Amino acid sequence: MLFSPKGIAFVLAGSIALITTAFLSLVKDTPGTALFVAFSIAFAASFLLFYFSLEFLVFREINKIFILIDKVKKKDFKLPRKQIVIDTNPLRRLNEEIFTYATKKQQEIDELKKLENFRKEFLANVSHELKTPIFAAQGFIHTLIDGAVDDKNVRDKFLDKAARSLDGLDALVQDLLTLSQMETGDIKMRYEKFDIRQLTAEVFEQLEEKADAKRIRLRFNKGNQGTVWAYADVQRIGQVMTNLIDNAIKYGREDGRVLVSFDSEKDHLLVAVKDDGPGIEPEHLKRIFERFYRIEKSRSKDKGGTGLGLAIVKHIIEAHRSKVSVTSKMGKGTTFIFKLDKGEGKN
Ligand SMILES: Nc1ncnc2c1ncn2[C@@H]1O[C@H](COP(=O)(O)OP(=O)(O)OP(=O)(O)O)[C@@H](O)[C@H]1O
Ligand SMILES: [Mg+2]
Repeated sequence: MLFSPKGIAFVLAGSIALITTAFLSLVKDTPGTALFVAFSIAFAASFLLFYFSLEFLVFREINKIFILIDKVKKKDFKLPRKQIVIDTNPLRRLNEEIFTYATKKQQEIDELKKLENFRKEFLANVSHELKTPIFAAQGFIHTLIDGAVDDKNVRDKFLDKAARSLDGLDALVQDLLTLSQMETGDIKMRYEKFDIRQLTAEVFEQLEEKADAKRIRLRFNKGNQGTVWAYADVQRIGQVMTNLIDNAIKYGREDGRVLVSFDSEKDHLLVAVKDDGPGIEPEHLKRIFERFYRIEKSRSKDKGGTGLGLAIVKHIIEAHRSKVSVTSKMGKGTTFIFKLDKGEGKN
């Protein structure tokens, strides 16, 4: 009330009328009625003057600004009414409104800057990764054109190398395509009931040679001997298992072992892929799911990775409305865990 135009006009008009009457009372022999009339006129005139100027020149304009800010806030941030500042002092309220609005906008700008950096980094990474196999294949083919084609041995070797570079390029482009399709939501998960233990056994078979080269044993947890039904997209989960087991072999230790276990948790299945490799330092642990992120880039490079594997794993698991988590102990090993729906009772 005090900060309404009426309230302010009332107080100011009262003060002016009082001062005027006080001065008038200093004049000798002024009758009481004259004082009263002077007070009333001074009060009424100043009240009307203040009231109308405040109402029409200040408060209305401020209210218009409020309504505008309210609209922008609700539209931009979808804030519930509760969060819109309520203060009786309109100027303080305006100040607070503008302050909250500016803070939100600043957050938005920071987020956009972060995305912009991410985009730049991504573009640099993609170009770099594409450049390597293209240059390699180009080199081999040009050498062949320049005469090496006449020597049968060299020709076969170079053609084989060029083909391998192009296969790598194809795999990289496929990975990038999968990632972008997942992000745009173009890939829908095709849920079905399947035996995830059987699927993992097939992945073990595919990666057996790689594991043998490092004398790594691929095993199931003792308790998981029979069928384990899961309800998910079998092809995508196959991709996840391949990525995780491939990593466990690539980054695991020689003579080590990779253990896959399935545990039941209410209507969920907990899938864990565990290795006994050197582990991942905490500072890298939170970043390994980012695209192109590799620990010790040069060393990982020898192992042929592009750093997209775990980014794809994360997307696939999230598309199943779940999350993948990782724990690691230096010198002990790393475990990746994710949840899936159980297949029992589904068809
Ligand atoms: N089990 C693991 N133990 C130790 N380090 C790991 C393990 N799994 C992943 N990493 C680290 O995380 C990084 C990212 O893994 P990711 O699978 O995304 O990429 P990559 O294996 O290098 O390449 P890609 O999977 O695309 O062939 C790896 O480069 C590696 O340094
Ligand atoms: Mg990988």
